[in-house]
Amino acid sequence: MKKIIARTLNDMYEIILSNGALHHVGEIAGSVIKGKKAFIVTDKNVAALYLNDVTTSFQNAGMTINTHIIQPGEENKNHNELWSLYQCFHQFGLTRSDAVVALGGGVIGDLTGLAAATYLRGIPLISIPTTLLAQVDSSIGGKTAINMPFGKNMIGCFYQPSVVITDPKVLTSLPRSVMNDGVAEVIKYGCIRDIDLFNHLMSGRMDLEWILERCIRIKTAIVENDEFDKGERMLLNFGHTIGHALEKCGDYRRLTHGQAVSIGMLVSAMLGEKQALTSEGTAKRIRDCLLSHDLPVEVPFSADQILEIVQSDKKNFSNTIHFIFLRNIGEAFIHRMAIGDLKHRLKEVMAHV
Ligand SMILES: NC(=O)c1ccc[n+]([C@@H]2O[C@H](COP(=O)([O-])OP(=O)(O)OC[C@H]3O[C@@H](n4cnc5c(N)ncnc54)[C@H](O)[C@@H]3O)[C@@H](O)[C@H]2O)c1
Ligand SMILES: [Zn+2]
Repeated sequence: MKKIIARTLNDMYEIILSNGALHHVGEIAGSVIKGKKAFIVTDKNVAALYLNDVTTSFQNAGMTINTHIIQPGEENKNHNELWSLYQCFHQFGLTRSDAVVALGGGVIGDLTGLAAATYLRGIPLISIPTTLLAQVDSSIGGKTAINMPFGKNMIGCFYQPSVVITDPKVLTSLPRSVMNDGVAEVIKYGCIRDIDLFNHLMSGRMDLEWILERCIRIKTAIVENDEFDKGERMLLNFGHTIGHALEKCGDYRRLTHGQAVSIGMLVSAMLGEKQALTSEGTAKRIRDCLLSHDLPVEVPFSADQILEIVQSDKKNFSNTIHFIFLRNIGEAFIHRMAIGDLKHRLKEVMAHV
Protein backbone atom coordinates (compact mmCIF):
# COMPACT_ATOMS: atom_id res chain seq x y z
CA MET A 1 0.00 0.00 0.00
CA LYS A 2 1.38 3.42 -1.01
CA LYS A 3 0.52 6.55 0.97
CA ILE A 4 1.12 9.89 -0.70
CA ILE A 5 0.79 12.92 1.55
CA ALA A 6 -0.91 16.02 0.16
CA ARG A 7 -0.17 19.13 2.19
CA THR A 8 -2.59 22.05 2.18
CA LEU A 9 -2.30 25.53 3.68
CA ASN A 10 -3.85 24.50 7.01
CA ASP A 11 -3.78 20.74 6.99
CA MET A 12 -2.83 17.57 5.10
CA TYR A 13 -4.50 14.43 3.79
CA GLU A 14 -3.38 11.06 2.51
CA ILE A 15 -3.90 9.58 -0.91
CA ILE A 16 -3.92 5.83 -0.41
CA LEU A 17 -2.99 3.87 -3.52
CA SER A 18 -3.47 0.13 -3.35
CA ASN A 19 -4.93 -2.72 -5.37
CA GLY A 20 -7.98 -3.94 -3.46
CA ALA A 21 -8.22 -0.77 -1.30
CA LEU A 22 -11.95 -0.73 -2.04
CA HIS A 23 -12.39 -3.55 0.47
CA HIS A 24 -10.76 -1.51 3.24
CA VAL A 25 -12.52 1.82 2.86
CA GLY A 26 -14.44 1.34 6.12
CA GLU A 27 -11.35 0.93 8.32
CA ILE A 28 -9.53 3.73 6.48
CA ALA A 29 -12.52 6.07 6.96
CA GLY A 30 -12.73 5.05 10.62
CA SER A 31 -9.18 6.24 11.14
CA VAL A 32 -9.86 9.75 9.81
CA ILE A 33 -13.35 10.57 11.15
CA LYS A 34 -14.81 10.56 14.65
CA GLY A 35 -18.46 9.81 13.85
CA LYS A 36 -20.15 6.54 12.98
CA LYS A 37 -22.20 7.58 9.96
CA ALA A 38 -21.19 7.71 6.31
CA PHE A 39 -23.34 8.95 3.45
CA ILE A 40 -22.27 7.44 0.11
CA VAL A 41 -22.96 9.27 -3.15
CA THR A 42 -22.44 7.36 -6.37
CA ASP A 43 -23.91 6.88 -9.86
CA LYS A 44 -25.93 3.99 -11.25
CA ASN A 45 -23.05 2.40 -13.21
CA VAL A 46 -20.61 2.51 -10.33
CA ALA A 47 -23.27 1.38 -7.84
CA ALA A 48 -23.96 -1.77 -9.87
CA LEU A 49 -20.27 -2.68 -9.79
CA TYR A 50 -18.87 -1.52 -6.47
CA LEU A 51 -21.49 -0.24 -4.02
CA ASN A 52 -21.91 -3.64 -2.37
CA ASP A 53 -18.20 -3.98 -1.57
CA VAL A 54 -17.99 -0.43 -0.27
CA THR A 55 -21.13 -0.77 1.85
CA THR A 56 -19.92 -4.04 3.34
CA SER A 57 -16.58 -2.53 4.22
CA PHE A 58 -18.21 0.41 6.05
CA GLN A 59 -20.59 -1.91 7.89
CA ASN A 60 -17.76 -4.22 8.93
CA ALA A 61 -16.05 -1.16 10.39
CA GLY A 62 -19.14 -0.58 12.56
CA MET A 63 -20.52 2.36 10.61
CA THR A 64 -24.10 3.14 9.66
CA ILE A 65 -24.44 4.04 6.02
CA ASN A 66 -26.96 5.56 3.69
CA THR A 67 -26.66 6.01 -0.07
CA HIS A 68 -27.88 8.24 -2.87
CA ILE A 69 -27.52 7.01 -6.45
CA ILE A 70 -27.72 9.52 -9.29
CA GLN A 71 -27.97 8.92 -13.02
CA PRO A 72 -24.56 8.87 -14.71
CA GLY A 73 -23.51 11.81 -16.87
CA GLU A 74 -22.20 15.36 -16.84
CA GLU A 75 -25.74 16.79 -17.11
CA ASN A 76 -26.43 15.57 -13.56
CA LYS A 77 -23.69 17.73 -12.05
CA ASN A 78 -26.36 20.33 -11.35
CA HIS A 79 -28.11 22.30 -8.61
CA ASN A 80 -31.11 19.94 -8.47
CA GLU A 81 -28.86 17.03 -7.51
CA LEU A 82 -26.98 19.24 -5.05
CA TRP A 83 -30.29 20.20 -3.44
CA SER A 84 -31.36 16.53 -3.18
CA LEU A 85 -28.09 15.70 -1.46
CA TYR A 86 -28.63 18.38 1.19
CA GLN A 87 -32.08 16.92 1.88
CA CYS A 88 -30.73 13.37 2.09
CA PHE A 89 -27.95 14.46 4.47
CA HIS A 90 -30.53 16.13 6.70
CA GLN A 91 -32.85 13.12 6.73
CA PHE A 92 -29.92 10.87 7.63
CA GLY A 93 -28.98 13.19 10.52
CA LEU A 94 -25.43 13.73 9.29
CA THR A 95 -23.21 15.78 11.64
CA ARG A 96 -19.81 17.39 11.22
CA SER A 97 -18.19 14.36 12.87
CA ASP A 98 -19.54 12.05 10.17
CA ALA A 99 -18.50 11.65 6.55
CA VAL A 100 -19.72 12.09 3.01
CA VAL A 101 -18.27 9.55 0.57
CA ALA A 102 -17.83 10.29 -3.15
CA LEU A 103 -17.70 6.94 -4.97
CA GLY A 104 -17.32 7.50 -8.71
CA GLY A 105 -15.74 9.56 -11.46
CA GLY A 106 -15.20 13.30 -11.67
CA VAL A 107 -18.91 14.08 -11.91
CA ILE A 108 -19.63 12.41 -8.57
CA GLY A 109 -16.45 13.89 -7.07
CA ASP A 110 -17.25 17.48 -8.06
CA LEU A 111 -20.92 17.35 -7.03
CA THR A 112 -20.38 15.47 -3.76
CA GLY A 113 -17.36 17.61 -2.91
CA LEU A 114 -19.45 20.77 -3.18
CA ALA A 115 -22.25 19.23 -1.10
CA ALA A 116 -19.76 18.14 1.60
CA ALA A 117 -18.05 21.55 1.57
CA THR A 118 -21.26 23.49 2.10
CA TYR A 119 -23.55 21.29 4.21
CA LEU A 120 -23.24 22.50 7.84
CA ARG A 121 -20.31 24.59 6.53
CA GLY A 122 -18.28 21.47 5.86
CA ILE A 123 -18.51 17.72 6.52
CA PRO A 124 -15.43 15.46 6.16
CA LEU A 125 -15.18 14.14 2.60
CA ILE A 126 -13.87 10.70 1.72
CA SER A 127 -13.05 10.42 -1.94
CA ILE A 128 -13.02 7.06 -3.76
CA PRO A 129 -12.25 7.91 -7.41
CA THR A 130 -13.23 5.20 -9.90
CA THR A 131 -12.17 6.59 -13.31
CA LEU A 132 -8.59 7.13 -14.47
CA LEU A 133 -9.31 10.86 -14.82
CA ALA A 134 -10.66 11.05 -11.28
CA GLN A 135 -7.73 9.05 -9.86
CA VAL A 136 -5.00 11.16 -11.48
CA ASP A 137 -6.74 14.51 -11.62
CA SER A 138 -10.10 15.50 -10.14
CA SER A 139 -9.81 13.74 -6.75
CA ILE A 140 -6.63 15.70 -5.93
CA GLY A 141 -6.47 19.41 -5.27
CA GLY A 142 -9.85 20.16 -3.74
CA LYS A 143 -11.73 21.74 -6.63
CA THR A 144 -15.50 21.14 -6.43
CA ALA A 145 -18.22 22.42 -8.75
CA ILE A 146 -21.59 22.11 -10.40
CA ASN A 147 -22.59 23.30 -13.86
CA MET A 148 -25.14 26.04 -14.48
CA PRO A 149 -27.24 26.66 -17.59
CA PHE A 150 -24.84 29.52 -18.42
CA GLY A 151 -21.60 27.56 -18.09
CA LYS A 152 -19.65 24.60 -16.80
CA ASN A 153 -18.21 24.51 -13.28
CA MET A 154 -19.63 27.96 -12.56
CA ILE A 155 -20.49 27.33 -8.89
CA GLY A 156 -17.95 25.70 -6.65
CA CYS A 157 -15.26 26.10 -4.04
CA PHE A 158 -11.97 24.69 -2.87
CA TYR A 159 -12.52 21.96 -0.29
CA GLN A 160 -9.92 19.35 0.54
CA PRO A 161 -10.90 15.74 1.24
CA SER A 162 -10.01 13.99 4.52
CA VAL A 163 -8.61 11.05 2.59
CA VAL A 164 -8.51 9.80 -1.02
CA ILE A 165 -8.70 6.03 -1.51
CA THR A 166 -7.48 4.96 -4.94
CA ASP A 167 -7.89 1.36 -6.07
CA PRO A 168 -6.37 0.73 -9.53
CA LYS A 169 -8.42 -2.49 -9.84
CA VAL A 170 -11.65 -0.57 -10.40
CA LEU A 171 -10.27 0.74 -13.68
CA THR A 172 -10.61 -2.72 -15.26
CA SER A 173 -14.37 -2.17 -15.69
CA LEU A 174 -14.06 1.23 -17.39
CA PRO A 175 -15.44 1.54 -20.93
CA ARG A 176 -12.56 2.06 -23.37
CA SER A 177 -13.55 5.63 -24.28
CA VAL A 178 -13.65 6.68 -20.61
CA MET A 179 -10.25 5.06 -20.02
CA ASN A 180 -8.79 6.87 -23.05
CA ASP A 181 -10.04 10.19 -21.73
CA GLY A 182 -7.94 9.58 -18.64
CA VAL A 183 -4.94 8.50 -20.71
CA ALA A 184 -4.96 11.95 -22.37
CA GLU A 185 -4.48 13.51 -18.92
CA VAL A 186 -1.74 11.00 -18.13
CA ILE A 187 0.08 11.97 -21.34
CA LYS A 188 -0.33 15.60 -20.24
CA TYR A 189 1.52 14.86 -16.97
CA GLY A 190 4.33 13.28 -18.96
CA CYS A 191 4.48 16.32 -21.23
CA ILE A 192 4.58 18.92 -18.46
CA ARG A 193 6.73 17.20 -15.82
CA ASP A 194 7.91 13.67 -16.45
CA ILE A 195 9.90 12.43 -19.43
CA ASP A 196 10.16 8.92 -17.90
CA LEU A 197 6.38 8.72 -17.73
CA PHE A 198 6.13 9.93 -21.33
CA ASN A 199 8.66 7.32 -22.49
CA HIS A 200 6.80 4.62 -20.58
CA LEU A 201 3.60 5.57 -22.41
CA MET A 202 5.45 5.57 -25.72
CA SER A 203 6.86 2.11 -25.04
CA GLY A 204 3.38 0.58 -25.20
CA ARG A 205 3.60 -0.72 -21.61
CA MET A 206 0.85 0.29 -19.21
CA ASP A 207 1.98 -0.43 -15.68
CA LEU A 208 -1.08 1.21 -14.13
CA GLU A 209 0.01 1.32 -10.51
CA TRP A 210 3.33 2.92 -11.48
CA ILE A 211 1.60 5.40 -13.79
CA LEU A 212 -0.96 6.34 -11.13
CA GLU A 213 1.72 7.00 -8.54
CA ARG A 214 3.74 9.23 -10.91
CA CYS A 215 0.65 11.27 -11.86
CA ILE A 216 -0.64 11.58 -8.31
CA ARG A 217 2.78 12.81 -7.14
CA ILE A 218 2.95 15.40 -9.93
CA LYS A 219 -0.54 16.75 -9.29
CA THR A 220 0.01 16.76 -5.53
CA ALA A 221 3.27 18.69 -5.85
CA ILE A 222 1.77 21.29 -8.18
CA VAL A 223 -1.36 21.93 -6.09
CA GLU A 224 0.68 22.06 -2.87
CA ASN A 225 2.56 25.03 -4.32
CA ASP A 226 -0.59 26.72 -5.58
CA GLU A 227 -3.64 25.56 -3.63
CA PHE A 228 -5.93 28.32 -4.91
CA ASP A 229 -5.00 28.26 -8.61
CA LYS A 230 -3.15 31.54 -8.95
CA GLY A 231 0.10 30.45 -10.60
CA GLU A 232 1.88 27.12 -11.03
CA ARG A 233 -1.40 25.20 -11.21
CA MET A 234 -1.90 26.80 -14.62
CA LEU A 235 0.68 24.32 -15.96
CA LEU A 236 -2.01 21.65 -15.60
CA ASN A 237 -3.86 23.50 -18.33
CA PHE A 238 -1.42 22.34 -21.00
CA GLY A 239 -3.58 21.50 -24.04
CA HIS A 240 -6.67 22.77 -22.22
CA THR A 241 -7.04 26.31 -23.61
CA ILE A 242 -7.46 24.92 -27.11
CA GLY A 243 -9.07 21.74 -25.71
CA HIS A 244 -11.86 23.59 -23.88
CA ALA A 245 -12.57 25.64 -27.00
CA LEU A 246 -12.77 22.47 -29.12
CA GLU A 247 -15.15 20.83 -26.64
CA LYS A 248 -17.38 23.89 -26.79
CA CYS A 249 -17.19 24.14 -30.62
CA GLY A 250 -18.60 20.62 -30.75
CA ASP A 251 -21.29 21.49 -28.19
CA TYR A 252 -19.72 18.96 -25.78
CA ARG A 253 -21.02 16.13 -27.98
CA ARG A 254 -18.57 15.85 -30.85
CA LEU A 255 -15.43 15.44 -28.70
CA THR A 256 -14.97 14.12 -25.19
CA HIS A 257 -12.78 16.13 -22.80
CA GLY A 258 -9.83 13.76 -23.28
CA GLN A 259 -10.13 13.85 -27.06
CA ALA A 260 -10.25 17.64 -27.06
CA VAL A 261 -7.22 17.85 -24.75
CA SER A 262 -5.39 15.40 -26.99
CA ILE A 263 -5.79 17.68 -30.02
CA GLY A 264 -5.13 20.72 -27.81
CA MET A 265 -1.78 19.35 -26.65
CA LEU A 266 -0.64 18.66 -30.20
CA VAL A 267 -1.70 22.11 -31.42
CA SER A 268 0.04 23.74 -28.42
CA ALA A 269 3.28 21.89 -29.19
CA MET A 270 3.04 22.97 -32.84
CA LEU A 271 2.38 26.57 -31.80
CA GLY A 272 5.43 26.39 -29.53
CA GLU A 273 7.65 25.02 -32.27
CA LYS A 274 6.49 27.73 -34.70
CA GLN A 275 7.66 30.40 -32.25
CA ALA A 276 10.88 28.56 -31.34
CA LEU A 277 9.64 28.22 -27.76
CA THR A 278 9.46 24.44 -28.03
CA SER A 279 12.30 22.20 -29.21
CA GLU A 280 11.89 20.81 -32.69
CA GLY A 281 10.42 17.32 -32.93
CA THR A 282 8.35 17.65 -29.73
CA ALA A 283 5.04 17.88 -31.60
CA LYS A 284 5.86 14.76 -33.59
CA ARG A 285 6.62 12.78 -30.43
CA ILE A 286 3.36 13.92 -28.84
CA ARG A 287 1.45 13.05 -32.00
CA ASP A 288 2.95 9.53 -32.06
CA CYS A 289 2.15 9.02 -28.40
CA LEU A 290 -1.47 10.19 -28.81
CA LEU A 291 -2.01 7.99 -31.86
CA SER A 292 -0.57 4.95 -30.09
CA HIS A 293 -3.26 5.42 -27.42
CA ASP A 294 -6.13 5.82 -29.90
CA LEU A 295 -6.45 9.54 -29.23
CA PRO A 296 -7.37 11.96 -32.02
CA VAL A 297 -4.94 14.42 -33.60
CA GLU A 298 -7.07 16.05 -36.31
CA VAL A 299 -8.69 19.44 -35.63
CA PRO A 300 -12.35 19.28 -36.68
CA PHE A 301 -12.97 23.07 -36.49
CA SER A 302 -11.52 26.21 -38.05
CA ALA A 303 -9.05 28.55 -36.34
CA ASP A 304 -11.74 31.28 -36.35
CA GLN A 305 -14.25 29.05 -34.57
CA ILE A 306 -11.67 28.11 -31.93
CA LEU A 307 -10.47 31.68 -31.41
CA GLU A 308 -13.96 33.05 -30.95
CA ILE A 309 -14.44 30.73 -27.99
CA VAL A 310 -10.98 31.29 -26.52
CA GLN A 311 -11.73 35.02 -26.56
CA SER A 312 -15.08 34.69 -24.83
CA ASP A 313 -13.68 32.34 -22.16
CA LYS A 314 -14.47 33.55 -18.65
CA LYS A 315 -10.79 33.74 -17.68
CA ASN A 316 -9.69 36.06 -20.46
CA PHE A 317 -10.10 39.53 -19.04
CA SER A 318 -7.72 41.23 -21.42
CA ASN A 319 -6.35 40.93 -24.92
CA THR A 320 -3.63 38.60 -23.73
CA ILE A 321 -3.84 35.02 -22.57
CA HIS A 322 -1.78 32.74 -20.31
CA PHE A 323 -0.79 29.93 -22.62
CA ILE A 324 1.08 26.81 -21.52
CA PHE A 325 3.98 25.77 -23.73
CA LEU A 326 6.59 23.03 -23.47
CA ARG A 327 10.29 23.72 -23.69
CA ASN A 328 10.79 19.99 -24.17
CA ILE A 329 8.82 16.91 -23.19
CA GLY A 330 8.70 17.06 -19.39
CA GLU A 331 9.22 20.82 -19.11
CA ALA A 332 6.30 23.25 -19.26
CA PHE A 333 6.10 26.99 -18.73
CA ILE A 334 3.53 29.79 -18.72
CA HIS A 335 3.75 32.31 -21.54
CA ARG A 336 1.63 35.41 -21.99
CA MET A 337 0.44 35.76 -25.56
CA ALA A 338 -1.59 38.41 -27.33
CA ILE A 339 -4.87 37.02 -28.66
CA GLY A 340 -4.10 38.59 -32.05
CA ASP A 341 -0.78 36.77 -32.15
CA LEU A 342 -2.44 33.50 -31.16
CA LYS A 343 -4.94 33.94 -33.99
CA HIS A 344 -2.23 34.50 -36.56
CA ARG A 345 -0.09 31.56 -35.32
CA LEU A 346 -3.04 29.23 -34.98
CA LYS A 347 -4.02 29.79 -38.60
CA GLU A 348 -0.45 29.06 -39.62
CA VAL A 349 -0.16 25.77 -37.74
CA MET A 350 -3.65 24.59 -38.58
CA ALA A 351 -2.75 24.61 -42.20
CA HIS A 352 -0.31 21.79 -41.32
CA VAL A 353 -2.21 19.60 -38.83
N1 LIG B 1 -12.31 18.89 -9.66
C1 LIG B 1 -11.34 18.84 -10.55
O1 LIG B 1 -10.20 19.24 -10.29
C2 LIG B 1 -11.63 18.27 -11.90
C3 LIG B 1 -10.58 18.02 -12.80
C4 LIG B 1 -10.87 17.44 -14.02
C5 LIG B 1 -12.20 17.13 -14.35
N2 LIG B 1 -13.20 17.39 -13.46
C6 LIG B 1 -14.59 17.04 -13.77
O2 LIG B 1 -14.67 15.62 -13.87
C7 LIG B 1 -15.78 15.29 -14.69
C8 LIG B 1 -15.40 14.16 -15.63
O3 LIG B 1 -15.06 13.04 -14.85
P1 LIG B 1 -14.94 11.57 -15.46
O4 LIG B 1 -14.21 11.63 -16.73
O5 LIG B 1 -14.47 10.70 -14.36
O6 LIG B 1 -16.44 11.25 -15.89
P2 LIG B 1 -17.71 10.61 -15.15
O7 LIG B 1 -17.68 10.87 -13.70
O8 LIG B 1 -18.88 11.08 -15.92
O9 LIG B 1 -17.51 9.06 -15.43
C9 LIG B 1 -17.52 8.58 -16.74
C10 LIG B 1 -18.39 7.35 -16.89
O10 LIG B 1 -17.74 6.22 -16.33
C11 LIG B 1 -18.60 5.52 -15.44
N3 LIG B 1 -17.74 4.89 -14.44
C12 LIG B 1 -17.07 5.50 -13.44
N4 LIG B 1 -16.26 4.63 -12.82
C13 LIG B 1 -16.43 3.44 -13.44
C14 LIG B 1 -15.83 2.16 -13.29
N5 LIG B 1 -14.86 1.94 -12.40
N6 LIG B 1 -16.24 1.16 -14.12
C15 LIG B 1 -17.18 1.39 -15.08
N7 LIG B 1 -17.76 2.58 -15.29
C16 LIG B 1 -17.38 3.59 -14.47
C17 LIG B 1 -19.56 6.56 -14.93
O11 LIG B 1 -20.76 6.00 -14.51
C18 LIG B 1 -19.75 7.43 -16.19
O12 LIG B 1 -20.72 6.87 -17.02
C19 LIG B 1 -16.22 16.56 -15.39
O13 LIG B 1 -17.41 17.02 -14.81
C20 LIG B 1 -15.09 17.55 -15.11
O14 LIG B 1 -15.52 18.87 -15.02
C21 LIG B 1 -12.93 17.95 -12.26
ZN1 LIG C 1 -8.53 17.93 -18.25
